[in-house]
Amino acid sequence: MWTTAAFVAALASSVYGAAVPAPDADGRYTISAPGITAKFIPYGASLTNLFVRDKAGGSIDVVLGYDDVAYYPVDPGHPVYNAIPGRYANRIGKAKYSINGTTYTTQDNDGGNTLHSGTNNWSFRFWNVTAYTKDSITFAIHDKSNSSLGMLGDVDASVTYSVKNSVWNIKIEATSPDQLTPVLLTQHTYFNLDAYRNPATDLIWDHTLHLPYSKRYLEADQGALPTGKILTAEPGSINDFASKAGVKFGHSKTDPKFKGNCGADGVCEGYNGYWLIEDAPKGAAVLTIASEFSGVKAELRTDQPGVVLYSCSWMDGSAILKSTQGLNDKQRVVKSSCVAIEAQDYPDGINRPEWGRADAQLLGPGEKYSWESSWTFGLL
Ligand SMILES: *[C@@H]1O[C@H](CO)[C@@H](O)[C@H](O)[C@H]1NC(C)=O
Ligand SMILES: *[C@@H]1O[C@H](CO)[C@@H](O)[C@H](O)[C@H]1NC(C)=O
Ligand SMILES: *[C@@H]1O[C@H](CO)[C@@H](O)[C@H](O)[C@H]1NC(C)=O
Ligand SMILES: *[C@@H]1O[C@H](CO)[C@@H](O)[C@H](O)[C@H]1NC(C)=O
Repeated sequence: MWTTAAFVAALASSVYGAAVPAPDADGRYTISAPGITAKFIPYGASLTNLFVRDKAGGSIDVVLGYDDVAYYPVDPGHPVYNAIPGRYANRIGKAKYSINGTTYTTQDNDGGNTLHSGTNNWSFRFWNVTAYTKDSITFAIHDKSNSSLGMLGDVDASVTYSVKNSVWNIKIEATSPDQLTPVLLTQHTYFNLDAYRNPATDLIWDHTLHLPYSKRYLEADQGALPTGKILTAEPGSINDFASKAGVKFGHSKTDPKFKGNCGADGVCEGYNGYWLIEDAPKGAAVLTIASEFSGVKAELRTDQPGVVLYSCSWMDGSAILKSTQGLNDKQRVVKSSCVAIEAQDYPDGINRPEWGRADAQLLGPGEKYSWESSWTFGLL
């Protein structure tokens, strides 16, 4: 268990770039531009705070996190708050994959499957800070072969976060110089656009959500592992966020299927699944989330073929809110009070050749992995 002072010192020793200063006294790096301020820590290359304008003319911290940085490794619900999980995010089915006839066994840390590569995942490691300016920061990680069980070949990855005029840009790159290895990355941010200040509700269901290019989604089993089937959401049905703009995220919360819609034999309420993004015009917003209470609207643009939505069913109230959020200092992160939005390739695509994503999810010598997304903030 870390003390705050020891953890801040460890964060400060993660600096390797020329002329990168130490983080501030509470372990964070701040970048800002008109209408947006973001704070990060080298642990997990995580975003800790994101301040944008609200309709009252103030600024509001719209992502989850902890005031005390030493709490990130404790992380009771393992929520991977706003980090870069890797080297293969989400699930590897049955903790196994094959390359060219050779089968590799990965760590079973999620009911028979591998989640976020196992317990040595990138979201719980200190990354290096390699560059920092007033509006941009770059983190890098060298991931040794087999440092997560069954993930062979060294991988080097970096993420650059930058801000400009109410836009947050994220660019991830990776190489695998020695051999082919599974690589699937994402930026795993949890949002509550009201910063838990809406006296009417902490729950996420009054936010509106629109994914205009996402009629289809992956069917998943009770452990949130894709079954292989791709389904089409009927307009107005529980998993439909495509057919109409301005629909509430909780539009189906009285549907009897809502309680177990994300599995766990009926216990996971809401959403923990993958929606395909198909036929989106280049540069189009592929997801819009907004809240009437704060007036904040956020648009996602990405080069990825889909997005994971997880509506925080496993948050159990053990995590305390940041001082920048909530209506008093005792509020906690309760079930279904946030949403993680993760642009990424098809989960477990390495084990599903029928989707045609398996080759794209293997990275090898001479290749470069690249991932890019942006969030544009505005008012409703
Ligand atoms: C797969 O194996 C074949 C036969 O051994 C070999 O020629 C080929 O280069 C291998 N492909 C990869 C991607 O390793
Ligand atoms: C990631 O690693 C941490 C630290 O070992 C562990 O607590 C967590 O359960 C792992 N898995 C996930 C899914 O984050
Ligand atoms: C940070 O950089 C140092 C020096 O190059 C290297 O030894 C270390 O492995 C790097 N740490 C990570 C997490 O990549
Ligand atoms: C990977 O590590 C495990 C122990 O964690 C070991 O049993 C296995 O032999 C290693 N694989 C390779 C290829 O080094």
